[in-house]
Amino acid sequence: MRHLNIAIIGAGVAGLAVASRLASMDAVIFEKSRGPGGRLASKRIGPVRADIGAQFFTVRDGRFQSVVDAGLSFGAIKPWNPRMGYLTTQGIDSSPDTQLRFVGTPYMNAFGRFLADGLQIETEVRIANIQKRNNGYQLTTTKHEEFTANKVIVTTPVNQMSDLLTGFETKAISDRFLMDPTWTLVMKTESQLQDRGGTPLDACFGGDDPVIDFISMERSKPGRENNFVVIQSNPDWAAKHIGQTAESVADVLCDAVRQRTGIIGEPLLAHRWSFARPKDPSVVSQKGIFQVDDGLWIAGDYLFGGRVEGAYLSGLEVAERLLKSL
Ligand code: FAD
Ligand code: NAI
Repeated sequence: MRHLNIAIIGAGVAGLAVASRLASMDAVIFEKSRGPGGRLASKRIGPVRADIGAQFFTVRDGRFQSVVDAGLSFGAIKPWNPRMGYLTTQGIDSSPDTQLRFVGTPYMNAFGRFLADGLQIETEVRIANIQKRNNGYQLTTTKHEEFTANKVIVTTPVNQMSDLLTGFETKAISDRFLMDPTWTLVMKTESQLQDRGGTPLDACFGGDDPVIDFISMERSKPGRENNFVVIQSNPDWAAKHIGQTAESVADVLCDAVRQRTGIIGEPLLAHRWSFARPKDPSVVSQKGIFQVDDGLWIAGDYLFGGRVEGAYLSGLEVAERLLKSL
C-alpha cells in the first residue's frame, strides 16, 4: 500500500492552492476528472472550447492578487472588460462598472493548469472513502486501491465531502453549508447581445430574473475565436429542473434567452452542475476552513463565499494551518 505524507482530494482551485503551498512536502492530489481546474471548466466543442463553469473572477485579497499577477505574467490569465448589462422585466439595461475582472486564457481551465504546474496530481482517481488508521488515514478509491497518508485535506463540494467522511463528525458543516445547482447552456449564435436602446453588450447579469443568472458572449473574452454565448441559469430554476434531460433544459433556456434578449441560436450543450454554488454565500467558516480531526481538514469555496478567490484563500489557509501544526 502506497504511503503519502499529504493527500489532497480534489484538483479544483482550493486543492491546487493547498498543494502549491505544500509542494515540497510530498503532497499528492487525487482528482476524479481527467485534468485539474474543477469548476473552472472548459468543455471541448469541435475544435474549440467553451467555458461552462466560472465565467470570470474578481480579486479583493492581496494573497489572491499575488497568484493572479503571476498568472497574468505567464499569460494564463488576462483581464476581461465586458460591456455589462442586467436583465429587467422590460429588457436589458446597460450597467457599466469599473470592477476589474479576469479570465483564464485561452480558456478558464488555463488558470487551473497554471496552478497545477509541477504538482503531483493523480487524475481519474476517485476517492470513495477515508478512514482513520493508526496515526494517520486510509484512503480507498472506487477501484478498491488503498493509500495511507499522515494528513488529508478534502476540497470537494460539501455533499461529496460528507460522503467521503462517513466515519467522522461532519454534520455541523453539511447542515450549515448547502449548495445550489446550476444549468449551463452553450449556444452558437450570430446575434449580438444589446441593451434595449441597441447598444452592444458583452455580458449581462440576471438581476431578479427567475430563469437566467448570467449571459456571456464568449468572443468578448480575450483569445476566444468562437460565436458561443454561455447562459447560466438561476439556481432556484436549476433546482426545479435538476432531473430533466439536457435536451429539454436546452430548449427551455434557448426560448428564455430569445424572449429576453432577442438572441436566436443553436443549442450546443447543456451541463448540469449539481453542486455549483453555496445557497447563502454570506455563511462562512472561520478563515474558510474546518478541522475535522487531528490531521484532517476540509477546504473549498463553499466555506468562504463561493467564488474562485474564496476557493483559493480557503486552500491557502488550510495549508498554513497544517504547516503550523507540524
Ligand atoms: P471544485 O472546483 O469543485 O473542485 C473540487 C474538485 O474535487 C473537482 O475537480 C472534483 O472533480 C474533485 N472531486 C470531487 N469528488 C472527488 C472524489 N471523490 N475523488 C477525487 N476528486 C474528487 N466563481 C467566480 O468567482 N466567478 C464566476 O463567474 C463563477 N461562475 C460560476 C459558474 C458556474 C456554473 C459554477 C459551477 C461555478 C461558478 N463559480 C464562479 C464558482 C467557482 O467556480 C468556484 O467557487 C471554484 O471554482 C470552486 O473551487 P473548489 O476547489 O472549491 O471546488
Ligand atoms: P462581481 O463583483 O462582478 O459581481 C457580484 C454581483 O454584483 C453580481 O452577481 C451582480 O449581482 C452584481 N453586479 C456586479 N456588477 C454589476 C453590474 N455592472 N450590473 C449589475 N449588477 C452587477 O463578481 P464577484 O463578486 O466576483 O462574484 C462572482 C460571480 O460569480 C457572481 O456573479 C456570482 O453570482 C457568480 N457565481 C455563479 C455561480 C453559478 O453557479 N452560476 C457560482 C458561484 C458564483
